[in-house]
Amino acid sequence: MKEEESNVTPWEVSGKLDYDKVIKEFGVEKISEELQKRLEKITGKNFMLDRKIFFAHRDLKWLLDEYDKGNKFFIYTGRSPSGSIHLGHLMTWQFTKFLQDAFDAELWFQFPDEEKFLFKKDLNYEDTQKYLEENMLDVIALGFNPKKTHFIIDTKHADLLYPEACKVAKKITFSMVKSSFGLNDSSNIGQIFYTSMQAVPAFLPSVIKKKNIPCLIPHAVDQDPHFRLTRDILPKLGHYKPASIQCSFLPPLTGNSGKMSSSKEDYAIYTIDSPKEVERKIKKYAFSGGKDTLEEHRRHGGNPDIDISFQYLKYMFEPDDKKLREIYESYKSGAMTSGELKQITINKINEFLKEHQKKRIASKSRIKDFIYKKD
Ligand code: TRP
Repeated sequence: MKEEESNVTPWEVSGKLDYDKVIKEFGVEKISEELQKRLEKITGKNFMLDRKIFFAHRDLKWLLDEYDKGNKFFIYTGRSPSGSIHLGHLMTWQFTKFLQDAFDAELWFQFPDEEKFLFKKDLNYEDTQKYLEENMLDVIALGFNPKKTHFIIDTKHADLLYPEACKVAKKITFSMVKSSFGLNDSSNIGQIFYTSMQAVPAFLPSVIKKKNIPCLIPHAVDQDPHFRLTRDILPKLGHYKPASIQCSFLPPLTGNSGKMSSSKEDYAIYTIDSPKEVERKIKKYAFSGGKDTLEEHRRHGGNPDIDISFQYLKYMFEPDDKKLREIYESYKSGAMTSGELKQITINKINEFLKEHQKKRIASKSRIKDFIYKKD
């Protein structure tokens, strides 16, 4: 079977992902052992760092130098509402929460509620507003500290964002946007402007507080083209370049090609899926590294490295290294069957979602505590 070429842009991730290639093409740096140790000295251990799920960065060393000097940073991340939240989104935000707690940092969370409206042909504006509310519940449910977390919504905080976005936009030419994002002469003009809106939260707290504050952006590697541009522009406006820490994608149920994505409903697990739905999807679609017959499986063992149920345990649901290793060995030796492995993953996901869904409902009355208000 011929592998499809990989493609990674902020609006499309497809093909068999080769992260070394992405590192080279985007010009980001791998997180070295040394840098990981330095980070962990402050934050404590984190399995997503250890397992290289967060694997790349820009200027993290500089950020920690500043931190050591007492120049504290804020964290910036975001979500463009366009559908329900799936496990892939939660993974990056769980890590974001870990960073917020470890550094006691402010988090600025952007909801660019115009982005997917501008980029997705079939998405109307009213639907994005429905998803906006829904998506905020998932973020709140993860337990961010409301005193230190500010939601910024592009169309609601336009008075704050638009003047700053214009300052950014004036430094970006159409040809820069074309080459960074693959836009062309028939792209709508909202798309051409959009990246300047995503740049703003990287320095908005500095504008509000009238002093330069370093910024750390945790994000999936597909967002890097935005921040590469942002980093070129901000020094020209008198701001620091934002630093970033970047992760790979949670694979879709069908296998290690592309990412979990809301556009392929049956191949993603959503935070609102029922236990039955989770079970159905994993049993029916989760790509298995097991052998065709039980006899063969017992004899030759399975391949956990391509098995999606195992990958979900590794990426999110089995933080305990020892337990993960036992499952790995047992599956590889053929002692554990695909059915058994799937059941472990189904149980773990459902245990997690049961709690998450409760917290999600309880978050409804708390949205207002998170939306940024000017003093
Ligand atoms: N473009 C992102 C999305 O498609 C949303 C986003 C806005 C974001 N600002 C960000 C993501 C900062 C990571 C970091 O959902």
